[in-house]
Amino acid sequence: MARERPLRFPDGFLWGSAVSAHQTEGGNSNSDWWVHEQVEGTTAHEPSGIACDSYNRYAEDWALAADSGQNAIRFSIEWARIEPSPGEFSTEAIDHYREVIGAARDRGLTTFVTLHHFTNPIWFALAGGWGSGDAPEIFARYAAVVGDALGDVLDVVNTINEPSVVAIVGHLMGYHPPREQDLVLSHVVSVNLLKAHAAAAVEIRARSAATVGLPLSVSDFAAAEESPQGRRSRDYLQHWWMDVWIEALRSGWVTGLEVPDQQIPGLGGTDDFVGIQYYSCFVVGKGAEGKARASLPGTGPSREVPDWAKNSDRRTQVGWTWYPEGLGNVIEDVAQTGLPIYITENGIATADDAERITFVDLHLEQVHSAISRGRDVRGYFHWTLLDNFEWNEGYRATFGMVAIDRETMQRTPKPSLAWYGDVARANALG
Ligand code: FCB
Repeated sequence: MARERPLRFPDGFLWGSAVSAHQTEGGNSNSDWWVHEQVEGTTAHEPSGIACDSYNRYAEDWALAADSGQNAIRFSIEWARIEPSPGEFSTEAIDHYREVIGAARDRGLTTFVTLHHFTNPIWFALAGGWGSGDAPEIFARYAAVVGDALGDVLDVVNTINEPSVVAIVGHLMGYHPPREQDLVLSHVVSVNLLKAHAAAAVEIRARSAATVGLPLSVSDFAAAEESPQGRRSRDYLQHWWMDVWIEALRSGWVTGLEVPDQQIPGLGGTDDFVGIQYYSCFVVGKGAEGKARASLPGTGPSREVPDWAKNSDRRTQVGWTWYPEGLGNVIEDVAQTGLPIYITENGIATADDAERITFVDLHLEQVHSAISRGRDVRGYFHWTLLDNFEWNEGYRATFGMVAIDRETMQRTPKPSLAWYGDVARANALG
């Protein structure tokens, strides 16, 4: 039943948008993604090139966000620029990011700074990337340098964006770099990412008053085929894509992967918050690896996703269906960590901006209901501010509230920007 509007959000709720360095800055030529976009046989539709030229135009972008009424912004700093070769740190890049962060703060935006958003320095990838045993230590060294140089201006830090996507899409599905298809390797990578997160959080906290958390890709998982095998595949993917990470943040333990069960040093109830990144339900096809899902303390059983959502014709430009109820469900899952929650990404790839407004409205309604149920959700970040480089999809998927002329780089706000800014100013959904 529709609840009476306006739906008011708690005082101090953060309203922002999210972007990432590689997708907006342009010219990220020292990163593995840049190489991936150029090589023969790439899965990328087109190269990122100049992206939105936000490396130069960030002040204009922050002004668009702040002037619309938003009070927060999430963006990433680029490891490949900050550490162009192992152990050598670029003062120029660090000074640049001090200006980027300062420009956002000057506009009254609370900053959520992501240390790693999918891209790696080329040297790190060549040295074995996230599969290598010293990856956590190497990442923690970078985090320490960031903490030393920028600790005084960091409000909130997201260590590693969607680590399950890095592990699974990059190391099992082979769709993102390094395009590996190796189950055991991808489990090793999962553990290394958790270790890196925990170690980086320690380094940041030692040098900054910033709060630190991990943004997780979460979803309601459905079996394409309602058979025992289909359900096993669904359970397995849900376990690895989502439940493992939730349980690790809660207890510090990683269980049920093709690596020994283990406790991650420094993890388990230590984070300041968890980020939820939710777009759609996830329909698991018949081809997925079948294995019974381990029973996990603290995470619930797999849920059934209704057929209307699984088989809906209502698909976004990237083929995802609409399922706003799933956001309410995953808030319940993530709440089992006992940690405060921010929705660090949610959005839609569509050419129809009115559809975007309806989509966000329905998802915010779910956030509001969760808060009414007592869930500690403290902010919402819309993916995304600008139409930008959507990884392998390139520029054809338009997730932004601001259009970009790809010739002139001119920014043109869509109606959704003003709509969302009004919600933010009112701190209520009208
Ligand atoms: C998320 C990514 C983000 C963007 C959205 C659509 O998985 O974190 O960079 O591509 O999906």
